[in-house]
Amino acid sequence: MTQTTNPDMFDTDVFIVGAGPAGATLALALAELGVSVHAITRYRWLSNTPRAHITNQRAMEVFRALGVEDEIHRYASPWELMGDTTFALSLTGREIARIRTWGSGGPRHGDYRAGSPCDMVDIPQPLLESVLVRNAAARGANFSFNTEYLGHTQDADGVTVQLRDRLRDHTFTLRARFLVGADGARSAVAEDAGLEIVGELGRASTAYVQFTADLTEHMSHRPSILNWIMSPAAGYGEIGMGLLRAIEPWTSWIAGWGYDPAEGEPDFSEEVVVAKIRELVGDPDLDVRIDGTSTWQVNQAYASSYSAGRVFCAGDAVHRHPPSGGLGSNTCVQDSYNLAWKLAYVVQGHAAAELLDSYTAERMPVGRQIVRRANQSRHEYAAFRDALRHDGSSRSLEELLDEPTEQGARTREALREAVTLKHYEFNAHGVELNQRYVSNAVIPDDPGDEVWARDPELYHQATTRPGAKLPHAWLVDDDGMRTSTLDQLDPRRFTLVTGLAGTAWTSAVDAIASPILTSAVFGDPDRADLYHEWAELREVAESGAVLVRPDGYIAWRHIGPAPEQAEAQRVIMSALSDVLGTGAPL
Ligand code: FDA
Repeated sequence: MTQTTNPDMFDTDVFIVGAGPAGATLALALAELGVSVHAITRYRWLSNTPRAHITNQRAMEVFRALGVEDEIHRYASPWELMGDTTFALSLTGREIARIRTWGSGGPRHGDYRAGSPCDMVDIPQPLLESVLVRNAAARGANFSFNTEYLGHTQDADGVTVQLRDRLRDHTFTLRARFLVGADGARSAVAEDAGLEIVGELGRASTAYVQFTADLTEHMSHRPSILNWIMSPAAGYGEIGMGLLRAIEPWTSWIAGWGYDPAEGEPDFSEEVVVAKIRELVGDPDLDVRIDGTSTWQVNQAYASSYSAGRVFCAGDAVHRHPPSGGLGSNTCVQDSYNLAWKLAYVVQGHAAAELLDSYTAERMPVGRQIVRRANQSRHEYAAFRDALRHDGSSRSLEELLDEPTEQGARTREALREAVTLKHYEFNAHGVELNQRYVSNAVIPDDPGDEVWARDPELYHQATTRPGAKLPHAWLVDDDGMRTSTLDQLDPRRFTLVTGLAGTAWTSAVDAIASPILTSAVFGDPDRADLYHEWAELREVAESGAVLVRPDGYIAWRHIGPAPEQAEAQRVIMSALSDVLGTGAPL
């Protein structure tokens, strides 16, 4: 590692603190965009606990664009093993309810399939991080392990970062044009940069025990990554249920339950923990090996701004919330993908620094939304408690549920409503895909509010409105193979999408001949719209135009038929210069 003393020289363009989902994705995306990048972690390797696992379609679309989707599939549990989620008195005991989760089954599967070319998968965080870091390093990113961030100072041209090599215990500085804090929920970078964190930290606590036990016989007929157990062994807290989460179907697991921190840390003695696991599973003789224990706190907080000068923060550093809905790592990945092309364009001189203002404008509202959603999903477990509230008699829960009376019918209906509410946690396709960016990097074409045909949290709504991601539709290439509209985008450049009749646009793009602009004709022989899916979704004339940013989001569109080529050229250049903040046509 070099040490720079001359402030006019840079060791790297972008320096990242953190190699978790946010830092590793950013390093990979920047390396892919040809930007010099250096990421550090204070540890000797990557995450050693399988915290994040549910990986949603939008994160997978990012990984597809970055060329690592297939590799992730190799390590991930497939979609079909994820979602026959149970609520039961124990894993082997009476089932209270089942719900098809993560869009894996029932009518929701069709919605999910229509919304994206990608699967939902389950990949434990240590495996995901190693795929991202390996690929980033292979494409030129630098990583330093055992390296701790101590502080930074910034000036008009760059950031000087103070670091400690933990192996040799010596401190040194590096200089970068930009610093990104992807250093997790206790982010020192966010604190040093003075980012305001709004909300509440540590409002509840959860104990996690990782263990090995073969539970195949209880799972193979109803595969599910998450299994909720209503047991006195795990009845504390706002969820009030224990969790059995599969890490490696169906032999590696986590058992989780809420605890009251006012009464001290949970008793993680082997005897207590094994007894609890056996109770949750419902097998007093279960052969269990304890692999590790941990605790985590429930936060409800986000940063009101994601940057200060040349310092940016991404991931849990700026949104801190419980895992409900699996929104954490997925949002980290999207923060980083949003930031990467903007940093790259500014470093490479394609955009003015003002483009970076759009990062907070676009991602902070998403952070705020998922913090609220994840916490609300925890509160909504109250509906189970209300539905199954004991009437004070000596009857068991089974007797209450099975009661052949009107009172029994009301109990069962209340249970059904409680389960239905869980679609907002487990089938929230809209929360996952419906981001709408409003910023200086988007040119709105319509002052009217978008009309949502269905619940925007539950259902994805495809649109070409500026600020939305380009809709997925299946096209057909000249070998007859299906190819997604998303696969036609160039992740390094803006892509102007038009139809066969839009020759004025493609000629205009050719005439502009910019290294950051390309075109794609949906309907040409290599992208035939044989299913007519694109025609149904495009919302613009066949000869209209949709200008898509390198991150797959729509910057601008022309709804009506194409103008003359000279005018087409003028409006494209004007749109690009507005978005990039260059002030004048490129
Ligand atoms: P993360 O905390 O992962 O990484 C921080 C990085 O910064 C590390 O590399 C660390 O070493 C480094 N660092 C910190 N301080 C440093 C310093 N001073 N110097 C150098 N390096 C430093 N999400 C999801 O999408 N799906 C899911 O299913 C789940 N499930 C889940 C379960 C549980 C129990 C938890 C607790 C969380 C989840 N999550 C989740 C959330 C997910 O784990 C979380 O959002 C991401 O790990 C956050 O990624 P980041 O990269 O932001 O930080």
